[in-house]
Amino acid sequence: MSAAASEAPAVVPFAIHGPTLSLRIPTLDDASDLLALASDPEVTRWFSWGPYTDVSQPRRFLSGLEEERRTGHKLDLLAVHHEHGPAGITGLYEFSPRDRRCVCGTWFGRAFWGTGANRESKALLQQLAFDTLGMQRFGSYSNPRNERSTRALLGVGLRHEGVLRGFHRHGDEYLDVNVFGLLREQWATSPLRAEFADRISVVGTPPEAFFAV
Ligand SMILES: CC(C)(COP(=O)(O)OP(=O)(O)OC[C@H]1O[C@@H](n2cnc3c(N)ncnc32)[C@H](O)[C@@H]1OP(=O)(O)O)[C@@H](O)C(=O)NCCC(=O)NCCS
Repeated sequence: MSAAASEAPAVVPFAIHGPTLSLRIPTLDDASDLLALASDPEVTRWFSWGPYTDVSQPRRFLSGLEEERRTGHKLDLLAVHHEHGPAGITGLYEFSPRDRRCVCGTWFGRAFWGTGANRESKALLQQLAFDTLGMQRFGSYSNPRNERSTRALLGVGLRHEGVLRGFHRHGDEYLDVNVFGLLREQWATSPLRAEFADRISVVGTPPEAFFAV
């Protein structure tokens, strides 16, 4: 091995760690865990996809993610519980680096609902969006009939801003969505940030396409 090669710094894969779970880039090896988590129809009830019935479905999802990251479209991350392993997918989407905004989306396997995993994952995502990526606005959507998701978003500091009509297509149906937002100034003093800030660490660097300009 040449001297230059032996001195090259190791590339640390990007991940964000909290007290009980971490968010990391998923790989094809995670397909069977995703199949187990999202084969429950309750988990995918509000989505335009699922439930998974075959491992080829999460494999197809996973194999498209590298291109989504390269083009700055979607930063999907696997939530991995430190004790119980893979728990679900959460991520940032609809990036506008110019306007410094993005939205979050999340699903967890049912065993993780109501455990605080969602709350901690939102603390990690908000830290990533505002502190690491330099965003000004962290948004989200929910189906107005999905009360659990709506409550969960309000509980992590987002404000309900209104309803967007016919915003989300499910097959031939165009669904209304609640729109939520959290601005950097509110995040800076939010109870969720205060609860987790000194227990979060980011390792490696997120893909370049997601940084605010
Ligand atoms: C949405 C999701 C990530 C939230 O995580 P969670 O662990 O279930 O949520 P939390 O425990 O953090 O919060 C749930 C809130 O809803 C409340 N809630 C629970 N069941 C409810 C119900 N059937 N109706 C209304 N509210 C409900 C809880 O009391 C809690 O509110 P509170 O904090 O005011 O007490 C998770 O339920 C999930 O993965 N759901 C399936 C996928 C999905 O719908 N994703 C969101 C798409 S927008």
